[in-house]
Amino acid sequence: MQLAVLPGDGIGPDVINAALPVIETVGLPWALEYGDVGWECWRSGGDPVPPQTWELLGKTDTCLLGAITSKPAREAEQELPTCLRVNPPIYRSPVIQLRQNLGLYANVRPIRDLRNDQFNFVVIRENTEGLYAGLDFRPVPADLWEHVRVHPNAADSGREETAATIRLQTRTGIERLVRFGFAYAHSHGFDRVTVADKPNVLRASSTLLRGIVESIAEEHPEIEVEILNVDALALWMVTRPERFGVILAENMFGDILSDLGAGIMGGLGLAPSANLGSSGSYFEPVHGSAPKMAGTGRANPLATILTIAEIAEHHDFPREATTIRSAVRTVVERRHSSDVTYDLGGTATTTAAANAVLKEIER
Ligand code: NAI
Ligand code: MG
Repeated sequence: MQLAVLPGDGIGPDVINAALPVIETVGLPWALEYGDVGWECWRSGGDPVPPQTWELLGKTDTCLLGAITSKPAREAEQELPTCLRVNPPIYRSPVIQLRQNLGLYANVRPIRDLRNDQFNFVVIRENTEGLYAGLDFRPVPADLWEHVRVHPNAADSGREETAATIRLQTRTGIERLVRFGFAYAHSHGFDRVTVADKPNVLRASSTLLRGIVESIAEEHPEIEVEILNVDALALWMVTRPERFGVILAENMFGDILSDLGAGIMGGLGLAPSANLGSSGSYFEPVHGSAPKMAGTGRANPLATILTIAEIAEHHDFPREATTIRSAVRTVVERRHSSDVTYDLGGTATTTAAANAVLKEIER
């Protein structure tokens, strides 16, 4: 298998460099090929995912990404070289480009209790539509304004001073996510699928969602299905995390719930993720580039190491995936101060924490 490695920005290279030796130590027969992505590519060439990187992604089987820095539009433009500022390109987040261009509609974020084994569930976030579909307007376009202006606040503010974002929900988007969720429940031994929604407020879109969920659920009588209010779901994730199996959520709900999940399992330093579609895939730790921590040796590499386990599992190396996870579990449970980074209460550097896992794998 050929794995594209895109370290990216900030702590991305730190955690990738520390985590990669796990691949060889656990005996995964993968060939690695490195590529560039992120802020430096934007600053030098006006595209955070340069053509050579797309080429690399085209010829490799999957991709491990470190992290990427994104900045607001004005700052992004100011950092371009002078020659590009006359007719500046528009900054498009590399992770969104990857998800859209590779058709990766499911963002899979496993939430495991590495300390006490009290819970094991997964948040699967829809990656392509919802509030992140890019239908975010200011001023509100004239045809949309017809609908928006009936709101008293919009009438008061006027078209120029009103912004409107459309939460796009489509049969195409919902159906493939729900099918993916049931398939994932089967392949991972979960007996419950929970769908996050807000049916009492977002009535029209919730009715569409419910119809699709109910008809697909009929094909899976052995799996229990429920649609929960997203706010109640958030509460129960904290108070009763053991009750969940597969949680499905539209883009924004899923973004928030999956970070909450990372918090429950002990922080962003432990949270892996996979972006999957009907063919392609890429994998990354959930955390971002934490620019202030870059190069300080403080970043926790375990999220990236667990992400390597996700790649292994997805590509039919279940034994290696289990070995990596148990090694991480042992290190986290033991919590020797010199083996874990600051976020887990230790004093280890990024490399020392990764080495502790390597040592466990070797044993
Ligand atoms: P962040 O995830 O970089 O940092 C949030 C907090 O978590 C910080 O306090 C940081 O110190 C801590 N943290 C993150 N990773 C850690 C690790 N491995 N070990 C220990 N502590 C860790 O999110 P933030 O600050 O919102 O964003 C920073 C930059 O990252 C932004 O430019 C943002 O656009 C980008 N970002 C990129 C993502 C990606 O590449 N998929 C995802 C999220 C943010
Ligand atoms: Mg997030």
